[in-house]
Amino acid sequence: MLARSICVAIALIICTSHCHGCHIYDINATKALIEIKSQLAEIRLEEAKQEEQLAEIFRRLNRNCLNSSPATNGISTIPCEKNEHGAGWTVILRRQDGSVNFYRNWNDYKNGFGNLDGEFFLGLDKIHTLTAEQSQQLLVLLEDANGVKSYEKYDRFAIGNEQQSYELHTLGRAAGSAGDSLRKHFGLKFSTYDRPNGVDPRNCAILYTGAWWYEKCHDSHLTGKYGDNTSGKGINWYTFRGHTHSLKFAAMMIRPVNK
Ligand SMILES: *[C@@H]1O[C@H](CO)[C@@H](O)[C@H](O)[C@H]1NC(C)=O
Ligand SMILES: *[C@@H]1O[C@H](CO)[C@@H](O)[C@H](O)[C@H]1NC(C)=O
Repeated sequence: MLARSICVAIALIICTSHCHGCHIYDINATKALIEIKSQLAEIRLEEAKQEEQLAEIFRRLNRNCLNSSPATNGISTIPCEKNEHGAGWTVILRRQDGSVNFYRNWNDYKNGFGNLDGEFFLGLDKIHTLTAEQSQQLLVLLEDANGVKSYEKYDRFAIGNEQQSYELHTLGRAAGSAGDSLRKHFGLKFSTYDRPNGVDPRNCAILYTGAWWYEKCHDSHLTGKYGDNTSGKGINWYTFRGHTHSLKFAAMMIRPVNK
């Protein structure tokens, strides 16, 4: 219906521009355009409603995470985890075997990708929704190629929306054994190879085959290529194992503050 209206409108506009003084055509074209505009407005309204419904579902799931272990939550749309730092963690990124390609475009990072039971990225829109609704803490779990484990915990973590290029605008105090390799990225926008928002004139996402809140370019890079020890290209956490050791395991998870 919409497609037909657009065709009619285009046909009439082309016709109008070639035939002087055909006011009847003008009127019909105007009518068609008005109709298209009102249809577009309806579609946008419907989209906004659906987005808000989806956001509400994710908020509820994130809160539910607190009361249920991964085995019992029965919901596959949000991964909950219980570990030595407590229960109720919503996992937003996991790397463990290189089964999923993380060198992806803006749209994939916006919407999320991968396998929730294995390697995945939850998606920047969902992370924004969850961190905007209530204060969240962030836990980063790491393991090097030799099986040595480490972690870093931030008492606040939040990112902006897409208009703000998912800026890492909130990053609280850090504590842990891995060291704070996220501080350098505080206040920066997210970049992918097709949407470089970094402060470096080079395209850091292409240079280091990942996507991150790049500066010039990174101290941490949990989206890097699995098993790639080339400087800066792998899964790096600089203060833990530097730039030339791609980690065997990495996960990021969030949990509401004061829970
Ligand atoms: C404009 O629309 C009217 C009513 O739909 C129709 O009768 C008329 O033929 C149309 N004019 C042209 C030039 O298409
Ligand atoms: C990467 O470096 C780590 C630590 O030195 C090593 O254990 C691992 O085998 C290396 N991986 C590759 C693919 O060379």
